Amino acid sequence: MITKQIITKCVSTRALFNNVLMTTSRYNYSTESSSSPNNNNESLITSSQSKEEIKKRNREIIERIIRVDHAGEFGASRIYDGQLAVLEDTKVGPLIKEMADQEKEHQRKFDQLLYQHRVRPTALSPIWDVAGFGLGYVSALMGKEAAMAVTVAVETVISDHYNDQLRQLHDNNIDDQELKEVVKKFRDDEMEHMHIGIEHDAELAPLYKPLSEMVKVGTKAAIWLSTRVKWIIV
Ligand SMILES: [Fe+2]
Ligand SMILES: [Fe+2]
Repeated sequence: MITKQIITKCVSTRALFNNVLMTTSRYNYSTESSSSPNNNNESLITSSQSKEEIKKRNREIIERIIRVDHAGEFGASRIYDGQLAVLEDTKVGPLIKEMADQEKEHQRKFDQLLYQHRVRPTALSPIWDVAGFGLGYVSALMGKEAAMAVTVAVETVISDHYNDQLRQLHDNNIDDQELKEVVKKFRDDEMEHMHIGIEHDAELAPLYKPLSEMVKVGTKAAIWLSTRVKWIIV
């Protein structure tokens, strides 16, 4: 009799234990099933938001690069036009013409990239048109050394600027091979122009240091403005 009572107690205790186990596992399951999909949704939203943000940021970087380079190549082209207006028939005429032709080629490439990437050009182009030509013209009137000093100053700033852009594209993992190749190639061309200027007595220009510093500051200001000021009429 006592044995029977003990067995009955054990069976009911086991049943109670099993019930507790089932309830706990059901609770665990419901906890997982209710929280896990939500977590997944949250992480999906977060990752899709950050993807969108990265896409937007990269687009802005590319836009700025194309806008400022388009303006810069136009400005550089106008500087050489101004120098040619004075020095075309001198000994350095063909050399300046060669650099001017390269700048026009650069300009055409950025015209194409501007259109291809649907980027608005800077609204400041009319200013760079006049300022670039004026700088080239006045420096050439001061002599071929001053003209070369302007070339060295402008091309130094532009080469550094292209290097900054290459770093920016790399640091942001922007995989636009065409843009990278264009920036690299043009950076090399600008450095060549800078060396041509040095080889042709830029440093013998009157007031070389202040002239050079003034042109560098002006070029940096033009880069800063052209990056930010866009044409707002579509
Ligand atoms: Fe150029
Ligand atoms: Fe150049």
